[in-house]
Amino acid sequence: MLRLALTKGRLEKKMLEILSDIGLDVSELYSGSRKLIYTIQGENLELMLAKAADVVTYVELGACDMGVVGKDTIMEHGSSFYEMTDLGFGKCRFALAVKQGEDFYGTYKTRRIATKYPNVAKKYFAKKGIDVDIIKIEGSVELAPIIGIADGIVDIVETGNTLRENGLTPIESICDISARLIVNIAAMKLKKKEISDFLARVEAATAGDKKC
Ligand code: PRP
Repeated sequence: MLRLALTKGRLEKKMLEILSDIGLDVSELYSGSRKLIYTIQGENLELMLAKAADVVTYVELGACDMGVVGKDTIMEHGSSFYEMTDLGFGKCRFALAVKQGEDFYGTYKTRRIATKYPNVAKKYFAKKGIDVDIIKIEGSVELAPIIGIADGIVDIVETGNTLRENGLTPIESICDISARLIVNIAAMKLKKKEISDFLARVEAATAGDKKC
């Protein structure tokens, strides 16, 4: 039996489409059920729904053999697993954004950065040799510069609409992000064949996504 953890929300939706494309019956997950673990009929597979950072934790601990999670979460939270494949969906980027017209670098004061991703932000500015204060925010980070508690934000940008509609603008791209399939280190040894077979099916179904 393989257990796959899916990140609830946007990545879950897209991954369920892929699982359906490769012939898995995932209809129960569309039934509006509040269940968190689903057994897929005719396959040795269980699906588990979890928050992004928890997907990483469950895979690291071996509670799940595999997980689908964004590169953003991997960069912020994880390391002790195999990152097997770029699934090619959930594409967006990390960016540094400021209030429109603001000169972020035009001051000698230590800048304040609001973010849901303190480790990513710290590492980014450390690499640039710039000293910053980081404020950890849980969501709607765009508010921080507007209400004057930060000089900039490090956040995910997909369409750019949230930044635009809140008077912010991206000034630097940090890196590209997309959904990744991760695998527990011990499971990769103990269930090599099942995992490789499953990966091959998923990779065949996502080959098109990766090109665009
Ligand atoms: C993410 C991100 C931005 C928004 C970017 O937030 O933190 O706020 O999406 O998308 P866009 O460039 O297409 O506008 P999410 O929807 O995950 O909500 P949250 O900020 O409350 O976590």
